[in-house]
Amino acid sequence: MSSKYSNLNFEEEPDFPIENIYPPRWNFDNEKAWQLYRRAKREQWDEENIDWKEVKDYATGLDRKQKLAIAYWWSLLSNFDNATPVFAYAVIKSFEQHLDTAVKGVLTTITYDENRHNVMCGLAINSVLPGFPFDFKPQDDLEKKAKLNVLWTWWNGSRYWKAYLEAYKKYTFDVLFTSFMMGEAAATTVFTTMSKGAKLKAFQELFKNTAVDETRHYAFTHLIMSQNAQKMDEERKKLVTKQIRAGFVFLSLITYKPPKDFWKLPPWFTEVHEKMEDIARDAGFYIPTIEEKEQAWKQAVLRVGASLKHYGIKLPDMPELGISGEVIEEISEEDYIPVF
Ligand SMILES: [Fe+2]
Ligand SMILES: [Fe+2]
Repeated sequence: MSSKYSNLNFEEEPDFPIENIYPPRWNFDNEKAWQLYRRAKREQWDEENIDWKEVKDYATGLDRKQKLAIAYWWSLLSNFDNATPVFAYAVIKSFEQHLDTAVKGVLTTITYDENRHNVMCGLAINSVLPGFPFDFKPQDDLEKKAKLNVLWTWWNGSRYWKAYLEAYKKYTFDVLFTSFMMGEAAATTVFTTMSKGAKLKAFQELFKNTAVDETRHYAFTHLIMSQNAQKMDEERKKLVTKQIRAGFVFLSLITYKPPKDFWKLPPWFTEVHEKMEDIARDAGFYIPTIEEKEQAWKQAVLRVGASLKHYGIKLPDMPELGISGEVIEEISEEDYIPVF
């Protein structure tokens, strides 16, 4: 029986298929990426070493609505920190595209980091209101709507996941990862603010450690951008500008005001969301005010904008923050590829 392998010539070196993780290959230049890889290994922390008992003890002093509001916040955060597969997929792609050894190494550390953030969300919910949201039985309209807010946010996450998988067919790695800049920058500022405002030591530590991770992730996206921007043509640069806007819209749900674009949410979403945030604040769980959130975003956008400008990439128009730039006409479902 003849097979597709019947003509192999073993006297010659084999032809490797393109877009394949084989052959393994290593390079030891790109010192900046190696530095980041070493930093990632140094800065690891263990979410199970957080004093979760402190959180549980605190929760026993809360009423039902307060517990719900805090579990609600963590559930929404988990929409963005459900990013283990996002980076795991990026690891696969980076091997298929034979990126630098250190770049692949950094991506594996981000995969591990994001998994830690995801487990952290689960542990936080489990310490405050175990089983939320799936096992939670609403007792009134507000509780029902809060639960639905979470589930519909996650449903939007599922739309994002499909778009993300498709994105690798359309965008090059550098454009994709430059798109992540906005998310990582926003995450850094939000978590820093939250760690400063948190009352419980456990939460202070959690947010501080997470901010350290996100700062490193930001540094990685910045590295990818700075090492590739010179090679980007005008069309790619425009794509990046569009992605910065997409990042803002996507992440605004947790970091700013729930946005209108992209999101398909229940009509009561904002009202219930704001109520939940207020209840959580009253319970002593620090959530930045809208002014603080605006400030954090502005800072993040200007920070990203300053780096991009250096490489001739424009900022998008952000009328919400009073920042004017390129007007982005329309962002479709397939355009959403930013993560925390
Ligand atoms: Fe994260
Ligand atoms: Fe991140």
